[in-house]
Amino acid sequence: MDYNTTNEQKTISGFSKLSKIGKLKWLAENFFKDPQATIDELRSYWHSDDQQQKILDGFSENTISNFPMPFGVAPNFVIDGKPYAVPMVIEESSVVAAASMAAKYWMSRGGFKTTILGTVKIGQVHFKWYGDKNLLHKLFPQIKAELIQEAKSITTNMDKRGGGILDIELVDFTDKEEGLYQLRCSFETCDSMGANFINSVLEQFGQSLQSFIAKHPSTADQANELMVVMCILSNFTPDCVVRAEVSCPISELGTMGSDLDAEALAYKFWTAIRIAEIDPYRATTHNKGIFNGIDAVVLATGNDFRAIEACGHAYAAKDGQYKSLSHCTIENNVFRFWIDMPLAVGTVGGLTSLHPIAKKSLELLGNPTAEELMKVIAVTGLAQNFAAVRSLITTGIQSGHMKMHLVNILHQLKATDGQIKSAVTHFSDKVVSFSAVRDFLKA
Ligand code: MEV
Repeated sequence: MDYNTTNEQKTISGFSKLSKIGKLKWLAENFFKDPQATIDELRSYWHSDDQQQKILDGFSENTISNFPMPFGVAPNFVIDGKPYAVPMVIEESSVVAAASMAAKYWMSRGGFKTTILGTVKIGQVHFKWYGDKNLLHKLFPQIKAELIQEAKSITTNMDKRGGGILDIELVDFTDKEEGLYQLRCSFETCDSMGANFINSVLEQFGQSLQSFIAKHPSTADQANELMVVMCILSNFTPDCVVRAEVSCPISELGTMGSDLDAEALAYKFWTAIRIAEIDPYRATTHNKGIFNGIDAVVLATGNDFRAIEACGHAYAAKDGQYKSLSHCTIENNVFRFWIDMPLAVGTVGGLTSLHPIAKKSLELLGNPTAEELMKVIAVTGLAQNFAAVRSLITTGIQSGHMKMHLVNILHQLKATDGQIKSAVTHFSDKVVSFSAVRDFLKA
């Protein structure tokens, strides 16, 4: 083996070239107290089927094992009249239970309604042009036509599926930075998330722009004045948005298990949403609750949760201040609660067609189109937010949260099945804390 196994040696060259077991051994021997136990434990999470493990390993580099996360389901979502059981991958206790509760609550009040507000995705070619500014603007229609033509070999398939390049705009940033421009390109990518498609087209655009400038008679002598800085999609997709909403007469809201009447409850709920529209400190936590639901479905369906998070938070700040992503009105005795959520997701290509459990999630959802998946994800975010705010304005979240967390504490304290059962009964009307559970077990 070409690695050092002494405890002093904690860096290595050629780690990626070691076999999987070689990597595991080197790490175990240099970073862990009990190397053999560590190797055994991490190996125990390898997939029993080598072929399946190879697929998982292919998603990343330097893999030494798998990292299990709970795969849960929230049933009883009725979306535009259609029932769904929603797959959720999340490690936080009570998130799936809360989504399920909200789904059931709204199921008997007409369910969730959705509208796709747009599906446009954006990519950018950032470049510097120190040549003649007016000439660049004048030539732009010609440049645009040539860029689209030269990208045809990449776009033909997408064009056939009804997508492709929608437009290219020249954006002039020279008032902010000398010589700075951008090609802002819009795309329709149908059922794929489209990152690879968009980035390939953009890189072709970058090359075509360079060759246009180099060969056009009026710019050929200024070819050195162009620098293509980078070609990359934008994860900010404010025109790839879905609206999810619920509404009902206030009288149908019920008491939600509180001592408030429906009208007082509606007003308290509305106020909670207003607070998140006004105060960024609350808005951040409020939106985190929304992403508890959104990320869980995005992850379960093999989509890119970092892209969804980045876009969602940028969208929450689009008016110049970070605000709640959800909104509420009470008008003519009707309570309405909704979210407009940018969601650039796909149901074909990438991890969606490779990850075995992501494929199962999509099957559970009836192999949806990307638009249908946008709807399911936004609805889950809204349901999660509804459940969180409902708890916050009535019982507070800790009672429910800690009841769910009780089992985690019991596992941490290595409680037996019998102890778990009696602890759950014992704490059904008591405050859960780590020390209270430890004392209970000792007693
Ligand atoms: C906890 O993961 C999420 C909440 O804090 C969200 C919220 O406060 O709205 C409960």
